[in-house]
Amino acid sequence: MKKILVTGGLGFIGSHTVVELQNEGFEVVIIDNLSNSKIDVLNSITEITHKKPDFHQLDLRVKSDVKNFFDHTKIDGIIHFAAFKAVGESVEKPLEYYENNIGSLVYLLQEMRDRNIDNFIFSSSCTVYGQADELPITENAPIKPAESPYGNTKQVGEEIIKEACNAHNLNAIALRYFNPIGAHDSIKIGELPLGVPQNLIPFVTQTAAGIRKELSIFGDDYPTHDGTAIRDYIHVVDLAKAHIAALQRLLDKKNANNFEFFNVGTGKGSSVLDVVKSFEKVSSQKLPYKIVGRRAGDITAAYADTSLVSKELNWKTEKTLDEALDSAWKWQESQL
Ligand code: WQD
Repeated sequence: MKKILVTGGLGFIGSHTVVELQNEGFEVVIIDNLSNSKIDVLNSITEITHKKPDFHQLDLRVKSDVKNFFDHTKIDGIIHFAAFKAVGESVEKPLEYYENNIGSLVYLLQEMRDRNIDNFIFSSSCTVYGQADELPITENAPIKPAESPYGNTKQVGEEIIKEACNAHNLNAIALRYFNPIGAHDSIKIGELPLGVPQNLIPFVTQTAAGIRKELSIFGDDYPTHDGTAIRDYIHVVDLAKAHIAALQRLLDKKNANNFEFFNVGTGKGSSVLDVVKSFEKVSSQKLPYKIVGRRAGDITAAYADTSLVSKELNWKTEKTLDEALDSAWKWQESQL
């Protein structure tokens, strides 16, 4: 049984990926420093799969702790989620973002090099494209100067991985996520934003739950069908399954290059108002909102061209926006 390390495995996308890994028969080891997750997610994962993942509370910024972990644990592959991910916060604290997102990545790659651990899946983001010139966005779209230190850590992270793979004969795949949303069908795991949600969907569900007074829609003067910005909202379970497909590609040595990257989205764009309408339909909740000014750094539109990922990974999304929003609402209700 292959043993896979999932860093950040108690986080939103990480926990859903752990469940899918276990469903596929992998043995899972989680490293998480609990800076943006809760330990009870470990029990929730176990309730879903009836297999408790091995868990190490560890900070990947501490090089000696990372080395010590690998001294005692033989790993066949790594899926690396652990990183800070708040765009706005990264502008205020760039050095902490580089220390955490880049420092821990380098320590992991050094261990892979030193111990001949071959297979690495990296959590990247469509943020690397900025506002793409053409839509839908393909993997050939140019990488534009990052709009935030967070986005830069994803761009630089990919570069570091590519160079490490070339220099040390490692194999890696970066998955460039669009906008992950929703919750597992069991409603035992989902998105747990700490503090005031920065992302749209948790703010929507908290508003519907009465935790927030109303949703502020950041701008309705974009050049889109209804003036609000467009994104590609992908169900987190579909996204988790893309990680399994990418890992299996490396384990089966089917990768065409030692560093590959794929856009992972639904291929469909939805505006903020589309999301509001869909949410009101699936939840039967009226969503109070107001239109305010644009948010700094936001782009008009982003949605994926999924032809490469579906061809090379034999993967495509199975769940709709309505299903994703329905699961997000059910998850929110379970938190009350
Ligand atoms: C979506 C849309 C907002 C909140 C970022 C990162 C990306 C990934 C996901 C980490 C935009 C609008 C939002 C609100 C709103 N991060 N909005 N009112 O900015 O597309 O992507 O988060 O993995 O890398 O770039 O996601 O959910 O913040 O915003 O109107 O209260 O909703 O303007 O159009 P975003 P988001």
